[in-house]
Amino acid sequence: MAATLITSCPTSKTTKWFSFVSTEPNNTKLLQPTTQKSITLDNRIVFPSINTYSAKDGCLTDSHLLHYGSLAAHGAGLIIIEATAIEACGRTTAYDSGIWKDEQVEPLKRVVNLIKAQGSVPGIQLSHSGRKLSIVPHLICSRVTPDEDDDSPEEKYSACDLKYTGSDPQPNELTVTEIRANVQKWADSAILANRAGVEVLEINAANRHLLHYFLSGNLNNRTDFYGGSLQNRMRFPLEVARAVRAAWPDEKPLWFRLPATDFSDSDPLSCDRDGWDIYQAIEFCKELKKIGIDAIAIANGTTTMNIKYPAPSTCQAQLANVIKHEVGIQTGATGSTCAGEEAEYILQKYQADYIIVGSGCILKTCFPKKDTPKLLADKISLSESGSLIDSMYKLSI
Ligand SMILES: Cc1cc2nc3c(=O)[nH]c(=O)nc-3n(C[C@H](O)[C@H](O)[C@H](O)COP(=O)(O)O)c2cc1C
Repeated sequence: MAATLITSCPTSKTTKWFSFVSTEPNNTKLLQPTTQKSITLDNRIVFPSINTYSAKDGCLTDSHLLHYGSLAAHGAGLIIIEATAIEACGRTTAYDSGIWKDEQVEPLKRVVNLIKAQGSVPGIQLSHSGRKLSIVPHLICSRVTPDEDDDSPEEKYSACDLKYTGSDPQPNELTVTEIRANVQKWADSAILANRAGVEVLEINAANRHLLHYFLSGNLNNRTDFYGGSLQNRMRFPLEVARAVRAAWPDEKPLWFRLPATDFSDSDPLSCDRDGWDIYQAIEFCKELKKIGIDAIAIANGTTTMNIKYPAPSTCQAQLANVIKHEVGIQTGATGSTCAGEEAEYILQKYQADYIIVGSGCILKTCFPKKDTPKLLADKISLSESGSLIDSMYKLSI
């Protein structure tokens, strides 16, 4: 993999990125407690935001208690509760969770308290889906019986009026006045999440949600000062980061989830200057660090139906490693990880601070506590998990 990346690398500075990987094994990192500001995690395993489509009017339900309580009982260090919309039309479906009104605080608090009682740290991902709609709820997670008045959120807006596919609803381009109002909603949601006792907040700028639409020139064709140059495309996501940081207690960690590239090409280090690539991601993360963002969680960049994901799955970990060293900020690496040995490998070789394990935790809930690097019983192969995730992604596109 490394050799391929070097030969196709467009600039000389990328060659130094390969010296960032560690060749000397250290002490086991996976199950070591780790502290960031006010929180101490039992281990470095982070369960990421994965929608369960089980909310009612944005409120978390008993299904969430069961789901997150079980994940916490099995020992993930940090659990990031699914993409939680900052306003009703920021949901991908009517079953997405939300935190835009007082009534949503108590149901969230129940889940937060249960996660804490099980010894995990509760986080939440604040999100706005922009123009994104999902078709998955009834296919993969039909835990909620639809109410008659539960329609998918109708009004959709985005960075511009580009549609994703012909059958999608037409999004409206956000006006500058609407952008300012939207920034305030992120801050208001952060205050409500704090009231519910959430310990880590994550801002979602990945997976074709609203902030990703602004960042990536592949999704943003605005001609005002929120589109065009990198500086312009970063403007709105940085305004959100600043507003949330100001509203969220200083001592509590604030994370940011973003794609390190849009994968317009299968080489993760290739340039996509008018779109979104690792070089722009580094500049953006430097700005986030100045604002006081505490960690970057790397996610896939899914802008098109024809994403050219490279193999192997450690590619996301390599990108996290580059951002960590170029920016000097903690990173979480996503790695389609299903076993402790793989997680330990990524933590050591790519020096990630956290290992983000989604499907691995769901498929194999004994993973965090029992599946240590030395105990690999009942191993699920990577290819098996990869094909499961592939099919889930196909559904969610
Ligand atoms: C059904 C589904 C829903 C997801 N929802 C979100 C989301 O709301 N926010 C987000 O940042 N990532 C979301 N993801 C991506 C996951 O957080 C994670 O990055 C992905 O599953 C890859 O990690 P894994 O291979 O360990 O599962 C979702 C993934 C799936 C399969």
